[in-house]
Amino acid sequence: MKILSGRKALVTGAGSGIGRESALALAGAGALVLVNDVSETAAHGTCTAIAEAGGKAHSYIASVADPDAVRLLFEQFDAEGNAPDILVNNAGVSGNAPTLELTDANWMRVIGINLNGPFYCSREAGLRMRAAGGGAIVNIGSIYSVVAAPQRLSYCTTKAAIGMMTKCLALEWAEFGIRVNCVAPGYVDSALTRELAATGRLDLAAVERRIPQHRLGQASEIADAVLYLCEPRSMHITGHILTVDGGWTANGYL
Ligand SMILES: NC(=O)c1ccc[n+]([C@@H]2O[C@H](COP(=O)([O-])OP(=O)(O)OC[C@H]3O[C@@H](n4cnc5c(N)ncnc54)[C@H](O)[C@@H]3O)[C@@H](O)[C@H]2O)c1
Repeated sequence: MKILSGRKALVTGAGSGIGRESALALAGAGALVLVNDVSETAAHGTCTAIAEAGGKAHSYIASVADPDAVRLLFEQFDAEGNAPDILVNNAGVSGNAPTLELTDANWMRVIGINLNGPFYCSREAGLRMRAAGGGAIVNIGSIYSVVAAPQRLSYCTTKAAIGMMTKCLALEWAEFGIRVNCVAPGYVDSALTRELAATGRLDLAAVERRIPQHRLGQASEIADAVLYLCEPRSMHITGHILTVDGGWTANGYL
């Protein structure tokens, strides 16, 4: 028996980066992982990697920004007897632009995926976790849940809101045995970061200079924190924002 044997974990945006590593970590701890992504190829890639490592996973293609798709997804879990008792709200996109050039489409896309998605998924998961007597939700925030940056208004606003959503749900659902926490990564070596650097919207050398540990995080290091917050040993932790950032948010200096 592994620590999460018998548990069912939905990870959104699990086809890449932090979501993929979190899915692998949860499967390694014994959970059946419900791998969600908008990219079928990416989701299947994660399921294959989990199977090759000896774990169990199924893929589900849906956009978390679509409330009807999320409702149908959870109805499918019900029909399969796989209602999740762990939810990792990971799917997220960046939307870097000077605010005076920020389009309605950029704003709505980032709010839709980064903020509405966790709300839709948490509401559906919360109903089932309450009925089952408990569960664990981990929201993937960011250092921008805690501190601010220019030219990232939509991203920072959604990540700050995720921090507050974490605390509100933790208070409201504690009586149902549902714990809600947030992991707030600093800059991580992932597709999202590489795309920002490749398109000139992020100066990676400057980022590494500013991090006290002088390196980007690895997606597996974020997954370790996610796993901890899903395990029984973190049973007394709820409503917490755990920064995993190499010291970025502690740094008030250069
Ligand atoms: N990479 C970083 O430096 C960093 C830092 C802090 C926080 N984060 C957060 O971590 C999370 C994951 O980031 P990442 O770097 O691993 O990104 P990534 O781009 O590597 O992976 C994101 C995944 O989400 C999927 N996705 C996008 N829209 C979706 C939707 N509507 N529904 C379902 N899936 C969708 C993508 O297809 C992709 O597989 C995001 O919430 C991000 O904001 C990342």
